[in-house]
Amino acid sequence: MDDVIKLLESARNDIAKADNLQQLESLRVALLGKKGSLTDAMKSLAGLSDTNRKEKGQQLNLVKQEITDLLTKRKVLLEQVELNHRLKAEKIDVTLPSLAWQIGRLHPITQTIDELTAIFGQMGFSVAEGPEIEDDFHNFTALNIPPSHPARQMHDTFYLHPQQETPQEGNNAPPVLRTHTSPVQIRALKSLPKPVAVIAPGRTYRSDYDQTHTPMFHQVEGIWIDRQTHMGHLKGCLIDFVHAFFENESIPVRFRANHFPFTEPSAELDIGYGIIDGMIRIGEGDKWLEILGCGMVHPNVLQACDTDPDSYQGFAFGIGIERLAMLKYGIPDLRTFFQCDLRWMRHYGFLPYDTASSIRGLGL
Ligand code: PHE
Repeated sequence: MDDVIKLLESARNDIAKADNLQQLESLRVALLGKKGSLTDAMKSLAGLSDTNRKEKGQQLNLVKQEITDLLTKRKVLLEQVELNHRLKAEKIDVTLPSLAWQIGRLHPITQTIDELTAIFGQMGFSVAEGPEIEDDFHNFTALNIPPSHPARQMHDTFYLHPQQETPQEGNNAPPVLRTHTSPVQIRALKSLPKPVAVIAPGRTYRSDYDQTHTPMFHQVEGIWIDRQTHMGHLKGCLIDFVHAFFENESIPVRFRANHFPFTEPSAELDIGYGIIDGMIRIGEGDKWLEILGCGMVHPNVLQACDTDPDSYQGFAFGIGIERLAMLKYGIPDLRTFFQCDLRWMRHYGFLPYDTASSIRGLGL
């Protein structure tokens, strides 16, 4: 009897004195481990008479329970102490200025999206978003691209497994990785009150890979729908955008007739450039480079979005973001955007403090 009480008392004492988790763990092993003193005492029960074994067994169980509780409580306390200690030791002074070479960089795509948002935001567009896994209705059908339309082939679409659980609207075609940001037009037109003026920057996917194509790339979609919005508005908006983005009012711009199923009339916008000493120079020389597609939203698209084409009209455009960033920042290979090379990021990335704004200036 006495030895059990003694064991309990010394255990209480030792547990109370343990002042770190390691010590406490050794103590636990010494008491309750395979060769621990309490385990030994339990083992010695086997040699006792029935009545003695019962009584001592009960007592040992109580002692074990108490020791286990004490160990647990002490452990919680010591963990708290240790955590406080670490929090104190590892405190970071966020007000300290960072070291220039340690600062992270914004990716040129992030920077370009910020610049686009600043420019179009000032014109009155707000930003909308849509899912990257899109259904057939939003990516194609509502954009006046019916199931057998050849434009579906042009898009090198990534189709997903038909069983995938994505909300489907209209038909049972498999979901796709959106091939352009135009489906956000549909979502915006269907869900927002008119007039609608939104841009939708984001990722898009097509199965293509070479110096000027990557399977994932970025576009920014724009749509402006009101009662009397016309082609003149489209031209003014996009010419102003080009001049603001390249921060150069004298860049030559031309609209060239084109075809998109979702706009009528449709055009592509080219900007003038030249190659001088092996370098692309925007606004100089006599070459033209296509940077975006645009047009007046097709009445069928308005109808698919429950918008009456006799009351509403407007324009839409879609711009390749990488193409803009490559031109503005002189980045020669599209694939390098997504190779996660830190040296590339240090060279082409932007300091996070240099937030793009049309007041403070863009990414120069
Ligand atoms: N969605 C078209 C593309 O990906 C671009 C576009 C958008 C053209 C809006 C006209 C109007 O090529």
